[in-house]
Amino acid sequence: MDKIIIINGPNLNLLGLREPAIYGGQSFENYLKNLQSSFPELTLEYFQSNHEGVLIDKLHEVGFEGYKGIVMNAGAFTHTSLAIADAIAAIQTPVIEVHISNVHARESFRQHSYMAANCKGVISGFGLESYRLAVLALIGN
Ligand code: DQA
Repeated sequence: MDKIIIINGPNLNLLGLREPAIYGGQSFENYLKNLQSSFPELTLEYFQSNHEGVLIDKLHEVGFEGYKGIVMNAGAFTHTSLAIADAIAAIQTPVIEVHISNVHARESFRQHSYMAANCKGVISGFGLESYRLAVLALIGN
């Protein structure tokens, strides 16, 4: 079975509670159950951390073998972290950058991504369904 991992960065453990007008009222765990049930042919793993180095360690761990792709919402680290961008450049597994909100319709500091140039593509602005679109892109549908 193909394996895909979703990696969420800082504050995304608070989905459902955090700024629901922007990020919606659903927890990620709840959404993930739904997502997993629509891809019975895939193993969908999930990892979340609020810590930059822990996210980098995870990218190293999953970035060389065993995974068809990585769906990553790095949260605010998208806009600040050269180290996460370098980790994505260093690994072999393709990464899709995902955002729940449309970062291009928000503050100017959210409109730059250090990681985007090292990713296969970027999906932004479709609510939690951004993650589904990224999985579909990785499996080629
Ligand atoms: C986000 C957008 C980022 O700018 C923000 O810092 C987040 C969430 C999104 O999914 O829309 O934490 O990545």
